[in-house]
Amino acid sequence: RTVHYYDFVLREINVTRNCTITTILVVNDSFPGPTIRVQKGDLVYVKVHNQGLYGVTLHWHGVKQPRNPWSDGPEYITQCAIPPGTNFTYEVNLTEEEGTIWWHAHNEWTRSTVHGAIVVLPREGSSFPFPTADGEHVIVLGSWYNEGTSLNKALEMEMSIGSPNIPRATGYLINGQYGDFVPCSNETTPHFFVDYGKTYLLRIVSAVVGTEMFFSIADHNMTVVGMDGAYTKPIVVSYLMIEPGQTMDILVTTNQSPGRYYMAAQRFATEYLAFTKFSHVVATAIIQYKGNYSLTSPPSFPIDTLPFYHDYSAAASFTHQLRSLATEEYPVDVPYNVTTRMFITASLNSLPCPDDSCYMGDSKLAASLNNISWKDPSVDVLQAYYRNISGVYTADFPDFPPEMFNFTGDDLPSSLAEASVGTAVKVLNYNETVEIVFQGTNLLEGSEYHPMHMHGYSFYIVGLGSGNFNNETDPLAYNLVDPPKVNTFGVPRSGWVAIRFRADNPGVWFWHCHIDRHMSWGMDYVFIVKNGDTEETSMRPPPPYMPPCVASKKDKLF
Ligand code: C2O
Repeated sequence: RTVHYYDFVLREINVTRNCTITTILVVNDSFPGPTIRVQKGDLVYVKVHNQGLYGVTLHWHGVKQPRNPWSDGPEYITQCAIPPGTNFTYEVNLTEEEGTIWWHAHNEWTRSTVHGAIVVLPREGSSFPFPTADGEHVIVLGSWYNEGTSLNKALEMEMSIGSPNIPRATGYLINGQYGDFVPCSNETTPHFFVDYGKTYLLRIVSAVVGTEMFFSIADHNMTVVGMDGAYTKPIVVSYLMIEPGQTMDILVTTNQSPGRYYMAAQRFATEYLAFTKFSHVVATAIIQYKGNYSLTSPPSFPIDTLPFYHDYSAAASFTHQLRSLATEEYPVDVPYNVTTRMFITASLNSLPCPDDSCYMGDSKLAASLNNISWKDPSVDVLQAYYRNISGVYTADFPDFPPEMFNFTGDDLPSSLAEASVGTAVKVLNYNETVEIVFQGTNLLEGSEYHPMHMHGYSFYIVGLGSGNFNNETDPLAYNLVDPPKVNTFGVPRSGWVAIRFRADNPGVWFWHCHIDRHMSWGMDYVFIVKNGDTEETSMRPPPPYMPPCVASKKDKLF
């Protein structure tokens, strides 16, 4: 096993996009940030030098981090922010994942510009479960905010939490660029040069902050072979639907007539946009065949294959095809018997407005799980758990919502439109087998997708459907044979998803919607997985130094 050392220097730089100069926080002066490239089983130390203006934390999205939540990163969950002018070293232990995952900042909205890919190659001596590609490219989809998403902006947002006054995306990017259809952008459109008749592995990361994306390449089919750091049964598709936080590995064969072809990513679901022009919601890059041919005609656009905004059936028909590879070499280990069963509603709600700062009169938007809107503590949950500090969280996250109702109908209980606020965690014993049904609700109008992400684990999607979950019939249709293994999966708009995992990773692990505004509004909770009986089944002790939980700038405002 190889040990790698990376230095990540974080600081603010000025960049121009869409004819506007914006100050953004980046790693090593690059946006997107550097790709970490390792083999399965390797160990990576990332020394984060915070030379920025504000505190920051980093998270290794999709990395199990066995028994080591101390390096997981979410602010107020497993650590406090790394203060400006100091450094902190993360230990990233890549024991389980293979394929593409990613890293990103995990406080406020910093992840919009602080992110990059993690490429995990097969172990020495083993190979891909598909013919090795002739070449590969990392493709990071991102969001852009002309006004930036710095702490000041986030503070403004937090203060009016749940108001429409959140950072508003100006548009979407591929590898940090808008592409040809946005003003001041066509000079920097990414070009991927390819040879005719080869197969390329594209490693796609969705670092998009606020919405699901459709992704397509003109005139080329794609074969999905991996997702979220695990291999899938190959599926041939003409478009992808990729949620914030998800990663996908796809193979593309360059078998079309030599020319230039757009790849395009378009937003799918509701998001507040500063601009609503069509051009800003499509990010493009160009696949360009090498060789001598006339470049006079414009690149072809995937006009026939890129589904349009709000095409929910296109989204569903993509996600329903996903399966684990499930071979002898890549077995599934989905638990058959369940010891803990939870039913969790994911809702948009409202809360009473504390003063007259709210944009909805006397209420403000909130989001919740089982109608509890998460409130960050001022000391991280992990430290409070490890050191027995009381008063930081309550261990009473409910297994069921306060009330069963017709979640997706029109006559929804108005009593539940208002969430309660809390820092409620769910405690699990080591090795429990857990099933969770996440049910989307239409409590506030404008039900949306919720890409639920779990830290410290990947989980199996055993069922997925629209409307209300039916406890009698839906479990009969569960896929326990080759369900996809993921770390992030969308609870469909007005629908449900059922997941299973084994709680074999002791520690404190965050769960949240990977749409940042929903996360900021409280669609979050935490699992504490207790230690087993042996040292090998227990959480590791903390490293000698963790950043102190000094009152941040944010705390002082409250
Ligand atoms: Cu990709 Cu909690 O994060």
